[in-house]
Amino acid sequence: MSTAASSPSIRVDQFFTAAEARFDRWRSLLDAARTWAVRADSDSTPVLAAFRELRQWEDYFAYPGPALLRDLEERLTSRDATGTVRLVQLINAALLTHSYRSNAADWEGEEQTARFGERLPGADELLHRPYFEVLVVTPMRRDAWPEIAQEYKTLRRAQDKFIYELVFVGSVEDAVLASILNGNLESVVISDGIPFASAHNAPVLREFLLANLAPNAFSARSGQQTLELARALKQIRPELDIFVLSGSEVEKVAGDPVAAECIRRIFYQVEEPLELHLSILDAITDRFDTPYFDNLQKYAQRPMGTFHALPVARGKSIFKSNWIRDMGRFYGMNLFLAESSATTGGLDSLLEPTGNIKVAQEKAARAFGADHVFFVTNGTSTSNKMVEQALLAPGDIMLVDRNCHKSHHYGAVLAGALPLYLEAYPLTKFSMYGAVPLRSIKKALLELKAEKKLDKARLLVLTNCTFDGHIYNVERVMEECLAIKPDLIFLWDEAWFGFARWSPFYRRRTAMGAAAILERKFKDPAYRAAYEEQRKKLGADFDPANPELLKTRLLADPDQVRLRIYQTNSTHKSMSCLRQGSMVLVKDQDYHTVEEQFHEAVFTHASTSPNLQIIASIDVARRQMELEGYELVNRAIQLALDVRREVNSHPLVSKYFHVAGSDEMIPEEFRASGFVDYLVPGVNWGTAVKSLREDEVALDVTRLTLVCGSAGFDGTQFKNLLAAEYDIQLNKTSRNSVLLQTNINNTRSDIAHLLKVLVTISQQIEAKLQRGGAEAQQAFAARVKSLMDDVPDLPNFTCFHNSFRKYPGSATSEGDMRSAFFGAYREEQCDHVKLSSPEIDRRLKEGPELVSANFVIPYPPGFPIMVPGQVINWETIDFMRKLDVKEIHGFTAALGLKLLNPSYLEAASGRGRVGVEEPKRAAA
Ligand SMILES: Cc1ncc(COP(=O)(O)O)c(C=O)c1O
Repeated sequence: MSTAASSPSIRVDQFFTAAEARFDRWRSLLDAARTWAVRADSDSTPVLAAFRELRQWEDYFAYPGPALLRDLEERLTSRDATGTVRLVQLINAALLTHSYRSNAADWEGEEQTARFGERLPGADELLHRPYFEVLVVTPMRRDAWPEIAQEYKTLRRAQDKFIYELVFVGSVEDAVLASILNGNLESVVISDGIPFASAHNAPVLREFLLANLAPNAFSARSGQQTLELARALKQIRPELDIFVLSGSEVEKVAGDPVAAECIRRIFYQVEEPLELHLSILDAITDRFDTPYFDNLQKYAQRPMGTFHALPVARGKSIFKSNWIRDMGRFYGMNLFLAESSATTGGLDSLLEPTGNIKVAQEKAARAFGADHVFFVTNGTSTSNKMVEQALLAPGDIMLVDRNCHKSHHYGAVLAGALPLYLEAYPLTKFSMYGAVPLRSIKKALLELKAEKKLDKARLLVLTNCTFDGHIYNVERVMEECLAIKPDLIFLWDEAWFGFARWSPFYRRRTAMGAAAILERKFKDPAYRAAYEEQRKKLGADFDPANPELLKTRLLADPDQVRLRIYQTNSTHKSMSCLRQGSMVLVKDQDYHTVEEQFHEAVFTHASTSPNLQIIASIDVARRQMELEGYELVNRAIQLALDVRREVNSHPLVSKYFHVAGSDEMIPEEFRASGFVDYLVPGVNWGTAVKSLREDEVALDVTRLTLVCGSAGFDGTQFKNLLAAEYDIQLNKTSRNSVLLQTNINNTRSDIAHLLKVLVTISQQIEAKLQRGGAEAQQAFAARVKSLMDDVPDLPNFTCFHNSFRKYPGSATSEGDMRSAFFGAYREEQCDHVKLSSPEIDRRLKEGPELVSANFVIPYPPGFPIMVPGQVINWETIDFMRKLDVKEIHGFTAALGLKLLNPSYLEAASGRGRVGVEEPKRAAA
């Protein structure tokens, strides 16, 4: 039998390809079988080879299962070409459409299917029962497996809400591989006494997956193998329900702390299988239940007289209307039946949840690995402001990426916190920013320490991943920052990255994934010993002037650190949730000290009329991700890789377009593992996982920067073209690129459509260049040059004007942005100066300084190039003058730049305070 390593055509060792590769293998078998069947005398070697290639991986799936595979093998060996085609066709279709989940005939082969066509649909088809698979890890001999499977089938009852099939494996390695390859798995039953090594020869998978995806899981390969396997599976897929069947040592296993963490229930080996069957279903029910959504459905079905203020509730004002009935027809009755402004009748209150919203939030906390979760119905824009208001008091320093979402800048204004802006590395060529280098963050913290202001630094805010897909090494950032300031709080804005929890590759780079790693790390005696070593070299209380600190990977003092981590995510951006659905995740060991102010912040920002449908959809999004997130996310990642490969290798399309790889998006110094890109030859699971574990910055492959400047389009132009002519929607653009993204909603057809459109556009460019001759070609080249080469430098943040700095001489540049912001509320304290006016050039040369009165945010690139109170320099003006975008928030060309005027600034700094002046009282 060929192996993953020895056969170049098997791509299971390649990144993320598991599920789609399986479909492709069945497709290849079908093609080979058809060719064979056309000429019955022809060589069957290709079919046999395709079957062998596929066969070794099928043990990890319940369908088609051993009986059908045996049948297929017999048809092959007896040279029944037509029969082979028929059976492969049936299996192929069942896999692609997932019909095997509900169609009993698919399991019995083609003859049954013919009969099935004639019979009436059974209860399963009429009443959809979700299907899943249970992995049984057992030392029993293979020939006993069918009998056990049959025994469990007899336990099925008509009232079971779900239906499952068993998949058997006989080793620890196979169990790990099955959990990776088979997205249908929801539960695992592990028996004592299983051998470690797989019977399959899959060295690449073994070497990389076990070492990288479940590191340290198998420290001692003897003894507690059952528990080690449970822990490894939970590291890979935390949502799996794990049951253990233990022999004589059942109590010992039950008493182990790993069991408490990882195992749902332990059974004595020989007990009733019915108990296990019911426990498996009960565990799935626990994930399936959506307390708020379920109750809302019940509420909608009850006859209800409403005397509260929401005319659309129950829909009578709509369905009986002479004029707006179409709204009712469009949305359907349920939307209105499920509308209410009541918090009684089991609808609970989002602001003060005590019932099913509370339970729904607790379930979300379990799913996302947080201690607490808050549902938010006004988007992450609001979630961010809530967290910032809850954690920051006026005068606290908030270290924040200047390129972050505007909600954070406004959060600082509202809280009165002093933003200390950190600069991300620029990607000038695409007119965008990447991530903030860890070195810059450490430097800022050390400077604050040197200035004796570290106690004021309370919160670090970073965007993970960024709009363009830069993912931090979250664990390392927090660990090194905590080494300098052990009680620093982190807010990870994962607006785009909520889905990442369900990818074992990305999870470690999420706030909650990294929190779990750090929690374990800080309890580890080996870490403590390493910290002691560091302490001997660098001292416990770092000298901020010590240059070694910036060069060393710092370890935090495990006795001092406080893990205080917050994450916000736009559930609506990456999961099946209605627009504006967002969550705040909390993993803060000192949460009790801020709980009250957290609730105040919720009261400040949350609407008192939250949308019930949004709350319900957050609840449902959690259910989906906990049950099928693993498979869906893997598919989204796979599709993104497909787009990258297809675009970059297409002979015509790649002449004009390409998707930027990791090497273009992330400077080399942040890719210490040597990782270049997902598509370069030789990259496999191992290299990619190594990069995700070690590199300072990694690229989220689902965020695709498609360079269109080389086709003569600026980002906005290309975005509009795709929308107007080809019904393709996207949102972010840069000067010479557009951002495409794949998510759990995309299919292979979407990818095919996109590629077809790119081919059409490329053909049009070719035709136009040919028709227009040398002149058109020169014009095209000039346009491409201007878009791709003549790109303006991105301006850095300068500093706040001295009037807004408590210590103007300080090396750190935090400032009182709130005072500057409100300073602009009085017209007489502001001036407008036209961007092109010589007055600007004169003041830049001779003064007085130009000080922005407000935020100026051009789209693209979408970050504030001026904030209130910021001193404006040449670079900023130059960038503004070269900007050729139409949408610039905070700037009206006809009026010019809005500046705080010198007399106001002088008076303000003279008085040592700034802000809105008290209106003068009239003389008595
Ligand atoms: C990084 C980041 N954070 C927060 C937000 C705001 O999220 P929402 O649209 O859910 O309010 C966005 C929106 O694009 C964003 O890009």
